[in-house]
Amino acid sequence: MQAASQTHCNSRIQIEWTSGGCTARAMAQVLQQLHMRGLHDQLRQSPLQATALVYSLLLACPVILLLLARRCATSAAARKKERLLRMLPSPPHWLPVIGHLHLVGRLPHVSLRDLAADHSRGGLMLLRLGAVPTLIVSSPRATEAVLRTHDHVFASRACSPVTDILFYGSTDVSFAPYGEHWRQVKKIATTHLLTNKKVRVYRHAHEQEVRLVMEKTHEAAVAGATIDLSSLLSSYTNDVVCHAVSGKFFREEGRNKLIQELVEANSSLIGGFNLEDYFPILVKLDLFKRMLCAKALKVNERWNELLDKLIGDHERRLASQHGDEESDFIDVLLSVQEEYNLTRDHIKAQLEIMFEAGTDTPYIVLEYAMIKLMQNPNIMTKLQTELRMTDDCTDRK
Ligand code: HEM
Repeated sequence: MQAASQTHCNSRIQIEWTSGGCTARAMAQVLQQLHMRGLHDQLRQSPLQATALVYSLLLACPVILLLLARRCATSAAARKKERLLRMLPSPPHWLPVIGHLHLVGRLPHVSLRDLAADHSRGGLMLLRLGAVPTLIVSSPRATEAVLRTHDHVFASRACSPVTDILFYGSTDVSFAPYGEHWRQVKKIATTHLLTNKKVRVYRHAHEQEVRLVMEKTHEAAVAGATIDLSSLLSSYTNDVVCHAVSGKFFREEGRNKLIQELVEANSSLIGGFNLEDYFPILVKLDLFKRMLCAKALKVNERWNELLDKLIGDHERRLASQHGDEESDFIDVLLSVQEEYNLTRDHIKAQLEIMFEAGTDTPYIVLEYAMIKLMQNPNIMTKLQTELRMTDDCTDRK
């Protein structure tokens, strides 16, 4: 794609933005002209043009040196990777430095769907999001290949200094790189924490939380007041997760509110648009890294204090009572600590990710469901009728 043009010595040089070679190609032409005509000749014939030429050359020299240095530093493996990436279908409109970032709009999932519809082949498409090559998978067959056949290749998330700080060296089940530690914590999650039995055990507590939400909604309806459903649903999912993770005393000292605040702080640090996700090289700049980590360190300090307190309380309670059926995640993790060789930081990382992963996801699903119901009043009426019929049946029993 032609993105710019410059005029030198009465001849027009088109700079083509192709795979980072734009400046090099333009400079090659400038140098060729210099070689043919001679700098002295030019200075004598047309001092103004020649001065402009010298300035262009001086400006471009560092760029050429940088490009040369980068080329030398690029390993054979990286070049091979780049060759493979180029075989993937990809939208043609990519720009130097930002790549395809400008093609992703405010609703990324919509942009990705539209781009995939136009440019993917076999359900695969490559986007260069800043400096990060990103594979977009959009067909069931390609999804199966990525999530099943080649699962181990894609299993690890990209490293980030922020998740390292927040999740105790990224040792939690979500951010730990694929390997032995991840297998252990995954096993703990699937066989001890996120099981059908645990869901059944917490059913009563869950129903209690639903009842509280219904009461608040009812009160607001009777008073004719408006209700902030987003905040209500977010507190509800947070309280359900707090109960499962840290036990029935989760409202003590307003801990549920603090956890909700910290989960939100984590989400804003991990989610959203973070420059370093697209330009990981920035993390190597000391000043940038310090700025990036400062907030994460403060948030981690607060998590650390809270988790230490929660674990300490449980250790004391565990010593006094055994065999409580409604054991929460902290009890469970403490009981398998030796078997799985877990440090205290490992336990904190697992607890924190449970709060994080368990709060936002159900809340977003519920909020989305409410939005869809409001947008489709006929479906809302159908649902209300079904619920009233269920209520009638329950009342008659
Ligand atoms: C509607 C509710 C939920 C939805 C839609 C949901 C969705 C998901 C998805 C899609 C993943 C995979 C993410 C990935 O690998 O990139 C995931 C992972 C996870 N979820 Fe949920 N989730 C929900 C509820 C919960 C709850 C209630 C908890 C905990 C109490 C939880 C804990 C986790 C954990 C720990 C992981 C990481 C597991 C791993 O990477 O192996 N989730 N969830």
